[in-house]
Amino acid sequence: MSTTTVITGIGELVTNDVERGEEGGLLGIVREAAVVLEGARVAWVGPAADAPDADVQVDAGGRAVIPGFVDSHSHLVFAGDRSAEFEARMTGEPYTAGGIRTTVARTRAASDEQLTSHVGRLVAEMRAQGTTTLEIKSGYGLSVHDEARSLAVARQFTDETTFLGAHVVPADTTPEDYVDLVTGPMLAAAAPHARWIDVFCEDGAFDVDQARAILAAGADSGLRGRLHANQLTYGGGVRLACELGLVAVDHCTFLAGDDVAALVSSGTIATLLPGVEFSTRQPYPDARGLLDAGVRIALASDCNPGSCFTSSMALCIALAVREMRMSPAEALHAATAVGAAALGRDDVGVLAPGRAADLVLLDAPSYVHLAYRPGVPLVAGVWQAGRPVLR
Ligand code: NIG
Ligand code: FE
Repeated sequence: MSTTTVITGIGELVTNDVERGEEGGLLGIVREAAVVLEGARVAWVGPAADAPDADVQVDAGGRAVIPGFVDSHSHLVFAGDRSAEFEARMTGEPYTAGGIRTTVARTRAASDEQLTSHVGRLVAEMRAQGTTTLEIKSGYGLSVHDEARSLAVARQFTDETTFLGAHVVPADTTPEDYVDLVTGPMLAAAAPHARWIDVFCEDGAFDVDQARAILAAGADSGLRGRLHANQLTYGGGVRLACELGLVAVDHCTFLAGDDVAALVSSGTIATLLPGVEFSTRQPYPDARGLLDAGVRIALASDCNPGSCFTSSMALCIALAVREMRMSPAEALHAATAVGAAALGRDDVGVLAPGRAADLVLLDAPSYVHLAYRPGVPLVAGVWQAGRPVLR
């Protein structure tokens, strides 16, 4: 028999459970609630007054509980620091894809142990801020050996690993030769460690035809596609993602009317990464316009050493609310349930019987405080697969 835990005295419980109907709103809110965890799963959700007994009792003291954040986009496998590049940007330099090569040199020079311990530190940093599911990409190796080992490192921390050999073309090769390498030997070495394949489809990185070829090769090796698209310029990346029926397309900063129409008709999730716009001084994506058009939006951190070195999903929520006109409820939903959907997952992002016991106790009476109190560490407890990982 696995251990049971009851968390009671929850003033506001966000379930994201659509079965709860209209009354709970978008977030399926239950007030004066309790949750029972059994092993790695949620066993029961309901009014605190009706809560069954359990081996372990935790009193939330009237505070809010939310599903753990699902961060569906990160680049944690890297070495080195690019704070000087950030500093230069803040005095007027633009962000370009070229900075990636600096991190590639440092990553190739790092040992497996150094990479593993660095990823471990970042994952712990994320978990302490409430992230319980995360995706990690490769993309700073850009050789057969370094991409495969980056993914092997990432796999130690998550099943949601993404092969991003097509991040930029390394300095010592031509684009044609590099696409051949990515779709041939590099893909063969990477595929056993990856669930997804991604391409940075952008000026200075890979064009739409190259992205199409790389995603097709990945699909032949059993990898599902995702795409970095329309981050720095307008272009065909978002439309390609929609045409291919990808589950999600990420960034979506520069969108034309055709792009929005394609997102609406394909149902592809637009994953917005507002930490990037914050850290590069770019305009924010039009989240409000996308939501009003009927596009599903996920929020993720894009944690990486170049365009955005934050691991905080709470910051992304605050930015989405303040700068992109999402409501606090829409932003939290995007950072949990829709993030899960962007990874093709229905076991996380929702607190309901049978789902993962991944949840966060906030030191606040309401989830609204995530946006209302920007920059304040509000995470008072984290359970991952039913285990208290922060309390
Ligand atoms: O998602 N856009 C491409 N990749 C990362 C940035 C990588 C870097 O600058 O090191 C991103 O923004
Ligand atoms: Fe990214």
